[in-house]
Amino acid sequence: MKIRENKGLTFDDVLLIPQKSSITSRQQVDTSTRLTDKIRINIPILSANMDTVTETSMAIAMANAGGIGIIHRFMSIEHHVKQIKLVKRAQGVMVENPYCINSNELVEKAIELMRQYKVGGLVVTDDGGFVNGIITTRDVNLVPNGKLLVQDVMTKKEKLVTLQANFSVDEARRLLYENRIEKIPVLNPDGTVRGLVTAQDVLKPVRNPNAALDEKGRLRVGAAIGVSKGEIARAEALLEAGVDVLVLDIAHGHADHCVDMVRTLRANHPNAQIIAGNVASREGARDLTLAGANAIKVGIGPGSICTTRIVTGFGVPQLTAIMDSAEGIRDTGIDIPLIADGGIQKAGDLVKALAAGAESIMIGSMFAGTEEAPGSPVIRDGQKVKVVRGMASLAATMGRKMVESNNDESAEDQEDWMKVVPEGVEAVVPYRGNVGEVLHQLVGGLRSGLSYGGAENIKKLQENAEFIEITPAGIRESGSHDVRKL
Ligand code: XMP
Repeated sequence: MKIRENKGLTFDDVLLIPQKSSITSRQQVDTSTRLTDKIRINIPILSANMDTVTETSMAIAMANAGGIGIIHRFMSIEHHVKQIKLVKRAQGVMVENPYCINSNELVEKAIELMRQYKVGGLVVTDDGGFVNGIITTRDVNLVPNGKLLVQDVMTKKEKLVTLQANFSVDEARRLLYENRIEKIPVLNPDGTVRGLVTAQDVLKPVRNPNAALDEKGRLRVGAAIGVSKGEIARAEALLEAGVDVLVLDIAHGHADHCVDMVRTLRANHPNAQIIAGNVASREGARDLTLAGANAIKVGIGPGSICTTRIVTGFGVPQLTAIMDSAEGIRDTGIDIPLIADGGIQKAGDLVKALAAGAESIMIGSMFAGTEEAPGSPVIRDGQKVKVVRGMASLAATMGRKMVESNNDESAEDQEDWMKVVPEGVEAVVPYRGNVGEVLHQLVGGLRSGLSYGGAENIKKLQENAEFIEITPAGIRESGSHDVRKL
């Protein structure tokens, strides 16, 4: 048995000492960062892979703002893949595999499909799969008879404007403008359908200039996977669907089965981007780095809904966990980034986490109250709130068991309630409106923080960082005090 001499510290225990700065405007600083050794994002923020935090709406909003959402794994592989594809279809100058209809179908079928898929047009193909037209809401809105054939009302091949796969965004924009059209099918060299470009998609990058995009111009998105053998199939399906990064979701990441999973994925998918964790020690970070991870996620028990430290007695205060783990990565000589996961309550915590060695941070509860998080708000004691639950809470654990056992409430399932040892809680958080507003505050705090740190970017913030440990009196002085808040 041993006891460490230096104390474990967390965000509230310290402040950063202001540094000489030549930054005159908050707009001058660069908030971009490494998510993994190969992927950059434009703001250093991830939404957590929790079932009350990240599904498609959150992932789309996060990537549009320049960060990334990690879609949780507590759903079937099929559903998971569908969610990734929805994010990937949400933006990108070209939609791949657009919805199609055969030219011999009835117009009413086209109307029904457009409604069902919530799209404004379908590419029309013949029996051989070759493109021979396009049908849009403009063609069908006033159609007198739904029993007409698609080929009778569509824009026919002779008049169809098309693009080849190697088109440029400027070319697409010019054709859309010159022909005053909304959609252009993209063809393969043999005349089959490759994709669809819409005016809306061409405009989106202008609307979200900071969006985190992949090399095809689509929003970036991540997905969580478990570490059991069956999860290899999930990982492969997600990679096939175009996921940018896989996040190993295991509470104690410094474990043989987690290290083995990283090794297996690395061996089978050399180019896959893998975030491994969670760890809170130098050795944990080192072992996962050596196993082939592209980034290390740090945090054992700092989360707002976590009770791991109470239930098990294990954990490391988050600031120390970040510093120790960063050293563990450095020990290997492999240059991969660190993600600080959990415990971020204020923008200042984010700045401290980055200064301590993280290159990005993951947030759960602060986002759970936003519009984009799954679930609807409810009124509790006159206040609008949303539910957040730890993924190891009793409700989340039992919810998963019910899904796994196909909702079969047998006696055995009932007994399972007694066997669960929760390491998280269920709670409510105030409703916070759109996540964009929360992100605006966080990124605003980061921009100011960089300026106080005399740093034009996150790397420089880390180089300049000097922490000072504070006392309970210092903590009290740091918040608003001796005034009555409105
Ligand atoms: P915040 O503080 O942002 O933390 O809400 C989110 C992170 O908390 C972790 N998490 C859990 N940890 N028991 C735990 O010990 C749980 O039930 C639990 N659920 C989530 C997770 O790392 C998340 O990103």
